Amino acid sequence: MQENISGVRVIKALSKTEYEVKKFGAVNDKLTADEYKTNKLTALTNPLATLILSLGLVGVIAVGAYLSAEAGTVVAFLSFFTLILNAMLGISKIFVTLSRGVASAERIERVLETDERMEVTDRPAGNPDYKIEFKDVSFSYNGKENNLEGVSFKVKAGQTVGVIGGTGSGKTTLINLLMRFYDVEGGAVFVDGKDVRSVEGGAFRSRFGAAFQSDFLIASTVRENIDYFRGLDEEDILKAVRCSCADDFIEGLEGGLDFVLAQKGANLSGGQKQRLLIARALAGNPDILVLDDSSSALDYATDARLRKGLKEYYPDCTKFIVAQRVSAVRHADIIVVMDDGRAVGVGTHEQLMENCEEYRQICTVQSGGDL
Ligand SMILES: Nc1ncnc2c1ncn2[C@@H]1O[C@H](COP(=O)(O)OP(=O)(O)OP(=O)(O)O)[C@@H](O)[C@H]1O
Ligand SMILES: [Mg+2]
Repeated sequence: MQENISGVRVIKALSKTEYEVKKFGAVNDKLTADEYKTNKLTALTNPLATLILSLGLVGVIAVGAYLSAEAGTVVAFLSFFTLILNAMLGISKIFVTLSRGVASAERIERVLETDERMEVTDRPAGNPDYKIEFKDVSFSYNGKENNLEGVSFKVKAGQTVGVIGGTGSGKTTLINLLMRFYDVEGGAVFVDGKDVRSVEGGAFRSRFGAAFQSDFLIASTVRENIDYFRGLDEEDILKAVRCSCADDFIEGLEGGLDFVLAQKGANLSGGQKQRLLIARALAGNPDILVLDDSSSALDYATDARLRKGLKEYYPDCTKFIVAQRVSAVRHADIIVVMDDGRAVGVGTHEQLMENCEEYRQICTVQSGGDL
Protein backbone atom coordinates (compact mmCIF):
# COMPACT_ATOMS: atom_id res chain seq x y z
CA MET A 1 0.00 0.00 0.00
CA GLN A 2 2.86 2.32 0.88
CA GLU A 3 4.53 1.70 -2.49
CA ASN A 4 1.27 2.39 -4.26
CA ILE A 5 0.72 5.66 -2.47
CA SER A 6 4.21 7.06 -2.84
CA GLY A 7 4.51 5.80 -6.42
CA VAL A 8 1.07 6.90 -7.53
CA ARG A 9 2.37 9.20 -10.23
CA VAL A 10 4.57 6.58 -11.84
CA ILE A 11 1.77 4.05 -11.72
CA LYS A 12 -0.67 6.41 -13.39
CA ALA A 13 1.85 7.65 -15.93
CA LEU A 14 2.67 4.10 -16.99
CA SER A 15 -1.01 3.08 -16.94
CA LYS A 16 -0.29 0.35 -14.43
CA THR A 17 -3.32 0.92 -12.21
CA GLU A 18 -4.95 -2.39 -13.07
CA TYR A 19 -1.72 -4.30 -12.63
CA GLU A 20 -1.17 -2.72 -9.20
CA VAL A 21 -4.76 -3.46 -8.18
CA LYS A 22 -4.21 -7.12 -9.09
CA LYS A 23 -0.85 -7.21 -7.30
CA PHE A 24 -2.39 -5.67 -4.22
CA GLY A 25 -5.28 -8.15 -4.45
CA ALA A 26 -2.91 -11.11 -4.57
CA VAL A 27 -0.90 -9.91 -1.56
CA ASN A 28 -4.10 -9.16 0.30
CA ASP A 29 -5.55 -12.60 -0.47
CA LYS A 30 -2.42 -14.29 0.83
CA LEU A 31 -2.56 -12.24 4.03
CA THR A 32 -6.22 -13.13 4.48
CA ALA A 33 -5.51 -16.84 3.94
CA ASP A 34 -2.63 -16.77 6.44
CA GLU A 35 -4.65 -14.91 9.06
CA TYR A 36 -7.57 -17.29 8.51
CA LYS A 37 -5.31 -20.28 9.08
CA THR A 38 -3.70 -18.93 12.27
CA ASN A 39 -7.02 -17.78 13.69
CA LYS A 40 -8.57 -21.17 12.99
CA LEU A 41 -5.71 -22.88 14.79
CA THR A 42 -5.88 -20.48 17.72
CA ALA A 43 -9.64 -20.86 17.99
CA LEU A 44 -9.27 -24.62 18.02
CA THR A 45 -7.03 -24.74 21.13
CA ASN A 46 -9.80 -23.62 23.47
CA PRO A 47 -12.49 -26.22 22.66
CA LEU A 48 -9.77 -28.86 22.39
CA ALA A 49 -8.49 -28.13 25.87
CA THR A 50 -12.03 -28.03 27.26
CA LEU A 51 -12.70 -31.38 25.61
CA ILE A 52 -9.62 -32.92 27.24
CA LEU A 53 -10.64 -31.41 30.59
CA SER A 54 -14.14 -32.82 30.35
CA LEU A 55 -12.90 -36.23 29.19
CA GLY A 56 -10.52 -36.21 32.13
CA LEU A 57 -13.37 -35.48 34.52
CA VAL A 58 -15.37 -38.32 33.02
CA GLY A 59 -12.30 -40.53 33.41
CA VAL A 60 -11.90 -39.60 37.10
CA ILE A 61 -15.55 -40.40 37.80
CA ALA A 62 -15.34 -43.65 35.83
CA VAL A 63 -12.16 -44.81 37.58
CA GLY A 64 -13.70 -43.74 40.93
CA ALA A 65 -16.79 -45.81 40.22
CA TYR A 66 -14.71 -48.76 39.05
CA LEU A 67 -12.61 -48.73 42.21
CA SER A 68 -15.79 -47.98 44.23
CA ALA A 69 -13.88 -45.22 45.97
CA GLU A 70 -15.45 -43.05 48.63
CA ALA A 71 -17.41 -40.02 47.46
CA GLY A 72 -15.06 -37.66 49.33
CA THR A 73 -11.99 -39.06 47.55
CA VAL A 74 -13.64 -38.76 44.11
CA VAL A 75 -14.68 -35.14 44.80
CA ALA A 76 -11.19 -34.29 46.00
CA PHE A 77 -9.74 -35.90 42.85
CA LEU A 78 -12.19 -33.95 40.67
CA SER A 79 -11.18 -30.62 42.21
CA PHE A 80 -7.45 -31.35 41.90
CA PHE A 81 -7.92 -32.49 38.34
CA THR A 82 -9.86 -29.33 37.43
CA LEU A 83 -7.22 -27.12 39.05
CA ILE A 84 -4.39 -28.80 37.19
CA LEU A 85 -6.14 -28.81 33.83
CA ASN A 86 -7.19 -25.17 34.15
CA ALA A 87 -3.57 -24.28 34.72
CA MET A 88 -2.64 -26.31 31.63
CA LEU A 89 -5.26 -24.40 29.65
CA GLY A 90 -3.62 -21.14 30.71
CA ILE A 91 -0.25 -22.47 29.53
CA SER A 92 -1.66 -23.44 26.15
CA LYS A 93 -2.86 -19.83 25.68
CA ILE A 94 0.58 -18.52 26.58
CA PHE A 95 2.02 -20.90 24.01
CA VAL A 96 -0.04 -19.34 21.20
CA THR A 97 1.00 -15.81 22.19
CA LEU A 98 4.59 -16.96 22.56
CA SER A 99 4.84 -18.53 19.11
CA ARG A 100 3.50 -15.33 17.54
CA GLY A 101 5.91 -13.25 19.62
CA VAL A 102 8.91 -15.38 18.73
CA ALA A 103 8.31 -14.85 15.01
CA SER A 104 8.28 -11.05 15.48
CA ALA A 105 11.17 -11.10 17.94
CA GLU A 106 13.39 -12.87 15.42
CA ARG A 107 12.94 -10.03 12.94
CA ILE A 108 13.44 -7.31 15.53
CA GLU A 109 16.55 -9.05 16.77
CA ARG A 110 18.02 -9.15 13.29
CA VAL A 111 17.77 -5.33 13.17
CA LEU A 112 19.05 -4.82 16.71
CA GLU A 113 21.98 -7.15 16.18
CA THR A 114 23.33 -5.11 13.30
CA ASP A 115 26.25 -3.19 14.70
CA GLU A 116 25.71 0.51 13.99
CA ARG A 117 29.05 1.60 15.29
CA MET A 118 31.97 1.39 12.96
CA GLU A 119 35.07 0.23 14.66
CA VAL A 120 37.78 2.82 15.29
CA THR A 121 41.22 1.31 14.93
CA ASP A 122 44.75 2.64 14.79
CA ARG A 123 45.91 2.99 11.21
CA PRO A 124 49.03 4.38 9.62
CA ALA A 125 48.68 8.10 8.88
CA GLY A 126 48.79 9.58 5.40
CA ASN A 127 50.20 12.83 4.13
CA PRO A 128 48.83 15.74 6.24
CA ASP A 129 49.46 18.19 3.37
CA TYR A 130 46.34 16.91 1.68
CA LYS A 131 42.79 17.43 2.86
CA ILE A 132 41.42 14.37 1.08
CA GLU A 133 43.43 11.49 -0.25
CA PHE A 134 42.18 8.29 -1.89
CA LYS A 135 45.02 5.80 -2.02
CA ASP A 136 44.55 2.80 -4.27
CA VAL A 137 41.00 2.34 -2.99
CA SER A 138 38.96 -0.70 -3.93
CA PHE A 139 35.52 -1.55 -2.67
CA SER A 140 32.65 -3.93 -3.29
CA TYR A 141 29.07 -3.67 -2.05
CA ASN A 142 28.30 -7.37 -2.27
CA GLY A 143 31.75 -8.83 -1.60
CA LYS A 144 31.89 -10.35 -5.09
CA GLU A 145 32.74 -8.04 -7.96
CA ASN A 146 34.48 -4.73 -7.20
CA ASN A 147 32.47 -1.52 -7.58
CA LEU A 148 35.63 0.53 -7.19
CA GLU A 149 39.12 -0.49 -8.13
CA GLY A 150 42.47 1.18 -7.57
CA VAL A 151 41.15 4.72 -7.24
CA SER A 152 43.79 7.27 -6.23
CA PHE A 153 43.72 11.07 -6.08
CA LYS A 154 44.72 13.87 -3.72
CA VAL A 155 43.07 17.18 -2.91
CA LYS A 156 44.50 20.11 -0.95
CA ALA A 157 42.50 22.14 1.56
CA GLY A 158 40.25 24.72 -0.08
CA GLN A 159 40.49 23.08 -3.48
CA THR A 160 37.57 21.90 -5.53
CA VAL A 161 37.48 18.36 -6.82
CA GLY A 162 34.99 17.54 -9.53
CA VAL A 163 33.94 13.95 -10.13
CA ILE A 164 32.39 13.11 -13.48
CA GLY A 165 31.43 9.85 -15.14
CA GLY A 166 28.54 7.78 -16.46
CA THR A 167 25.72 6.41 -14.37
CA GLY A 168 26.81 3.56 -12.15
CA SER A 169 30.49 4.44 -12.58
CA GLY A 170 31.07 4.75 -8.83
CA LYS A 171 30.73 8.48 -8.11
CA THR A 172 28.33 8.14 -5.19
CA THR A 173 30.38 5.21 -3.93
CA LEU A 174 33.39 7.56 -3.61
CA ILE A 175 31.29 9.78 -1.34
CA ASN A 176 30.08 6.78 0.68
CA LEU A 177 33.69 5.87 1.38
CA LEU A 178 34.84 9.44 2.00
CA MET A 179 32.17 9.93 4.66
CA ARG A 180 32.71 6.41 5.91
CA PHE A 181 29.23 5.07 5.35
CA TYR A 182 31.13 1.99 4.19
CA ASP A 183 34.68 0.80 4.78
CA VAL A 184 37.15 0.29 1.98
CA GLU A 185 38.24 -3.21 1.10
CA GLY A 186 41.66 -2.30 -0.20
CA GLY A 187 43.75 0.87 0.08
CA ALA A 188 42.73 3.75 2.33
CA VAL A 189 40.85 7.04 2.43
CA PHE A 190 42.55 9.85 4.34
CA VAL A 191 41.02 13.10 5.55
CA ASP A 192 43.53 15.59 6.96
CA GLY A 193 46.17 12.89 6.72
CA LYS A 194 44.27 10.52 8.98
CA ASP A 195 42.76 7.25 7.84
CA VAL A 196 38.98 7.67 8.18
CA ARG A 197 38.87 4.33 10.00
CA SER A 198 41.02 5.74 12.79
CA VAL A 199 38.77 8.72 13.59
CA GLU A 200 35.71 8.75 15.88
CA GLY A 201 32.57 8.89 13.75
CA GLY A 202 30.42 11.65 15.30
CA ALA A 203 32.95 14.47 15.29
CA PHE A 204 34.25 13.32 11.93
CA ARG A 205 30.93 13.53 10.11
CA SER A 206 30.01 16.92 11.60
CA ARG A 207 32.81 18.43 9.53
CA PHE A 208 31.00 17.56 6.35
CA GLY A 209 28.16 19.42 4.72
CA ALA A 210 26.46 17.17 2.24
CA ALA A 211 23.61 17.23 -0.23
CA PHE A 212 22.91 13.75 -1.54
CA GLN A 213 21.44 12.62 -4.81
CA SER A 214 17.86 12.20 -3.63
CA ASP A 215 17.84 14.00 -0.31
CA PHE A 216 14.66 14.81 1.52
CA LEU A 217 12.93 17.93 2.76
CA ILE A 218 10.67 17.92 5.78
CA ALA A 219 7.17 19.36 6.09
CA SER A 220 8.29 22.46 7.95
CA THR A 221 9.49 26.01 7.30
CA VAL A 222 12.24 26.81 4.84
CA ARG A 223 14.38 27.98 7.77
CA GLU A 224 14.00 24.70 9.64
CA ASN A 225 14.79 22.73 6.53
CA ILE A 226 18.07 24.59 6.20
CA ASP A 227 18.89 24.65 9.91
CA TYR A 228 17.80 21.07 10.43
CA PHE A 229 17.78 21.26 14.26
CA ARG A 230 21.38 22.43 14.49
CA GLY A 231 20.53 25.81 16.01
CA LEU A 232 22.58 27.74 13.46
CA ASP A 233 22.99 31.52 13.43
CA GLU A 234 20.67 33.55 11.22
CA GLU A 235 23.74 34.99 9.55
CA ASP A 236 25.04 31.56 8.52
CA ILE A 237 21.66 30.61 7.14
CA LEU A 238 21.39 33.82 5.12
CA LYS A 239 24.91 33.38 3.77
CA ALA A 240 24.13 29.81 2.70
CA VAL A 241 20.89 30.91 1.08
CA ARG A 242 22.68 33.64 -0.86
CA CYS A 243 25.47 31.33 -2.00
CA SER A 244 23.13 28.59 -3.16
CA CYS A 245 21.04 31.18 -5.08
CA ALA A 246 18.02 30.07 -3.08
CA ASP A 247 17.33 33.71 -2.13
CA ASP A 248 15.89 34.29 -5.62
CA PHE A 249 12.84 32.19 -4.99
CA ILE A 250 12.64 32.38 -1.18
CA GLU A 251 12.00 36.13 -1.49
CA GLY A 252 8.98 35.33 -3.61
CA LEU A 253 7.52 32.90 -1.09
CA GLU A 254 4.90 34.09 1.33
CA GLY A 255 6.71 34.63 4.63
CA GLY A 256 10.15 34.07 3.06
CA LEU A 257 12.20 31.80 5.32
CA ASP A 258 9.06 31.10 7.34
CA PHE A 259 7.17 29.68 4.37
CA VAL A 260 5.96 26.18 5.23
CA LEU A 261 6.93 23.43 2.80
CA ALA A 262 4.66 20.53 1.97
CA GLN A 263 5.86 17.00 2.71
CA LYS A 264 8.99 16.16 0.69
CA GLY A 265 8.96 19.76 -0.54
CA ALA A 266 6.16 18.93 -2.96
CA ASN A 267 5.26 22.60 -3.39
CA LEU A 268 8.70 23.48 -4.78
CA SER A 269 10.21 22.86 -8.19
CA GLY A 270 13.08 20.39 -8.65
CA GLY A 271 15.66 23.17 -8.97
CA GLN A 272 14.28 25.02 -5.96
CA LYS A 273 14.55 21.87 -3.86
CA GLN A 274 18.14 21.37 -4.95
CA ARG A 275 19.04 24.93 -4.00
CA LEU A 276 17.53 24.44 -0.53
CA LEU A 277 19.49 21.22 -0.08
CA ILE A 278 22.70 22.97 -1.09
CA ALA A 279 21.88 25.76 1.38
CA ARG A 280 21.42 23.14 4.09
CA ALA A 281 24.79 21.61 3.28
CA LEU A 282 26.49 25.02 3.41
CA ALA A 283 24.75 26.51 6.44
CA GLY A 284 26.89 24.61 8.94
CA ASN A 285 30.06 26.20 7.51
CA PRO A 286 31.45 22.78 6.65
CA ASP A 287 35.08 21.90 6.38
CA ILE A 288 34.32 19.70 3.42
CA LEU A 289 31.33 20.25 1.16
CA VAL A 290 29.96 17.22 -0.64
CA LEU A 291 27.46 17.70 -3.45
CA ASP A 292 26.20 14.60 -5.21
CA ASP A 293 24.59 15.61 -8.46
CA SER A 294 23.05 18.53 -6.60
CA SER A 295 22.99 21.05 -9.38
CA SER A 296 21.60 18.84 -12.13
CA ALA A 297 18.23 20.63 -12.12
CA LEU A 298 19.74 24.13 -12.06
CA ASP A 299 19.88 26.19 -15.22
CA TYR A 300 23.39 26.92 -16.44
CA ALA A 301 23.39 30.54 -15.26
CA THR A 302 22.34 29.61 -11.70
CA ASP A 303 24.87 26.79 -11.68
CA ALA A 304 27.59 29.27 -12.63
CA ARG A 305 26.47 31.69 -9.90
CA LEU A 306 26.57 28.85 -7.38
CA ARG A 307 30.17 28.04 -8.31
CA LYS A 308 31.16 31.70 -8.05
CA GLY A 309 29.38 31.96 -4.69
CA LEU A 310 31.19 28.91 -3.34
CA LYS A 311 34.56 30.47 -4.18
CA GLU A 312 33.59 33.83 -2.76
CA TYR A 313 31.74 32.87 0.43
CA TYR A 314 33.46 29.60 1.35
CA PRO A 315 37.07 29.92 0.16
CA ASP A 316 38.50 27.62 2.85
CA CYS A 317 35.99 24.86 2.36
CA THR A 318 37.19 21.86 0.36
CA LYS A 319 34.56 21.02 -2.23
CA PHE A 320 33.80 17.56 -3.48
CA ILE A 321 31.39 17.96 -6.36
CA VAL A 322 29.86 15.09 -8.29
CA ALA A 323 28.20 16.10 -11.53
CA GLN A 324 27.07 14.83 -14.88
CA ARG A 325 27.75 18.11 -16.66
CA VAL A 326 31.23 19.12 -17.74
CA SER A 327 30.32 22.76 -17.08
CA ALA A 328 29.88 21.98 -13.38
CA VAL A 329 33.38 20.56 -12.98
CA ARG A 330 35.52 22.09 -15.70
CA HIS A 331 36.88 24.85 -13.45
CA ALA A 332 37.63 22.47 -10.59
CA ASP A 333 41.24 22.24 -9.42
CA ILE A 334 41.17 18.49 -9.92
CA ILE A 335 38.75 16.49 -12.02
CA VAL A 336 38.38 12.76 -11.43
CA VAL A 337 36.89 10.90 -14.38
CA MET A 338 35.18 7.69 -13.28
CA ASP A 339 34.45 4.81 -15.62
CA ASP A 340 33.18 1.46 -14.40
CA GLY A 341 34.67 1.82 -10.91
CA ARG A 342 38.04 3.08 -12.07
CA ALA A 343 39.49 6.58 -12.06
CA VAL A 344 40.46 6.71 -15.73
CA GLY A 345 41.63 10.30 -15.54
CA VAL A 346 42.78 12.66 -12.80
CA GLY A 347 43.82 16.22 -13.58
CA THR A 348 42.68 19.65 -14.69
CA HIS A 349 40.34 20.18 -17.62
CA GLU A 350 43.23 21.07 -19.92
CA GLN A 351 45.31 18.05 -18.89
CA LEU A 352 42.39 15.71 -19.30
CA MET A 353 41.47 17.13 -22.70
CA GLU A 354 44.97 16.23 -23.76
CA ASN A 355 45.37 12.78 -22.30
CA CYS A 356 42.02 11.29 -21.26
CA GLU A 357 39.99 9.77 -24.06
CA GLU A 358 36.90 9.23 -21.86
CA TYR A 359 36.86 12.87 -20.74
CA ARG A 360 37.22 14.09 -24.32
CA GLN A 361 34.27 11.91 -25.28
CA ILE A 362 32.10 13.32 -22.48
CA CYS A 363 32.99 16.85 -23.58
CA THR A 364 32.27 16.11 -27.23
CA VAL A 365 28.89 14.57 -26.49
CA GLN A 366 27.88 17.41 -24.21
CA SER A 367 28.75 20.05 -26.74
CA GLY A 368 26.37 18.39 -29.17
CA GLY A 369 28.85 16.21 -31.07
CA ASP A 370 28.51 12.54 -31.93
CA LEU A 371 30.74 9.75 -30.67
N1 LIG B 1 23.83 0.03 -1.87
C1 LIG B 1 24.31 -0.65 -2.89
N2 LIG B 1 24.33 -2.01 -2.88
C2 LIG B 1 24.82 -2.70 -3.91
N3 LIG B 1 25.32 -2.17 -5.03
C3 LIG B 1 25.33 -0.83 -5.13
C4 LIG B 1 24.82 -0.01 -4.07
N4 LIG B 1 24.95 1.28 -4.45
C5 LIG B 1 25.52 1.26 -5.67
N5 LIG B 1 25.75 0.00 -6.09
C6 LIG B 1 26.40 -0.40 -7.36
O1 LIG B 1 27.68 0.21 -7.40
C7 LIG B 1 27.97 0.75 -8.67
C8 LIG B 1 28.34 2.21 -8.55
O2 LIG B 1 27.22 2.92 -8.07
P1 LIG B 1 27.23 4.46 -7.73
O3 LIG B 1 26.00 4.75 -6.98
O4 LIG B 1 28.52 4.82 -7.10
O5 LIG B 1 27.13 5.10 -9.19
P2 LIG B 1 27.12 6.63 -9.61
O6 LIG B 1 28.36 6.88 -10.39
O7 LIG B 1 26.87 7.49 -8.43
O8 LIG B 1 25.88 6.66 -10.61
P3 LIG B 1 24.79 7.81 -10.82
O9 LIG B 1 25.39 8.83 -11.73
O10 LIG B 1 23.69 7.08 -11.54
O11 LIG B 1 24.39 8.33 -9.50
C9 LIG B 1 26.74 0.48 -9.53
O12 LIG B 1 27.03 -0.61 -10.36
C10 LIG B 1 25.64 0.11 -8.55
O13 LIG B 1 24.82 -0.88 -9.08
MG1 LIG C 1 25.25 8.59 -7.81
